[in-house]
Amino acid sequence: MKKVITFGTFDLFHLGHLRILERARALGDYLVVGVSTDQLSFSKKNYLPVFSECNRMNIVRAIRYVDEVFREESLEKKREYIRQHRADVLVMGEDWKGKFDVYSDLCEVVYLERTVGVSTTDLKRFIKSVPGEKEL
Ligand code: CTP
Repeated sequence: MKKVITFGTFDLFHLGHLRILERARALGDYLVVGVSTDQLSFSKKNYLPVFSECNRMNIVRAIRYVDEVFREESLEKKREYIRQHRADVLVMGEDWKGKFDVYSDLCEVVYLERTVGVSTTDLKRFIKSVPGEKEL
């Protein structure tokens, strides 16, 4: 069985998230997703996700392409996670191109194109611009 692993915050789950999960799953037989904890997301971006890690994990777990989810607590633990889950392929969005090549001694590293025109950041900006909507 070929196992694929990927990581992300997956806040305000959108089409770009769905498409990367679909394409990641198509590279193997089993997809494991490390969902960044609230604390890790905060340390990356300096603000908390809109949806809690528990909700984000529940949403990602419910996606038909996803076989298993776990909490990604630290960016430094990638090697440990890849080993723990016996992943054969690591999938990342192309925004990370080259940054994870160090793990190619453990597994195949694949960067997939981002879906054009949608991102959590843009969605938040759009929602904020709608008159009468509360702050995100
Ligand atoms: N992703 C994608 N296409 C998009 C947005 C995200 O393929 N339009 C992918 C990212 O490359 C990543 C995964 O979805 O592999 C999870 O993305 P996440 O970490 O949640 O970040 P973004 O949705 O990109 O959020 P932001 O725009 O705020 O960075």
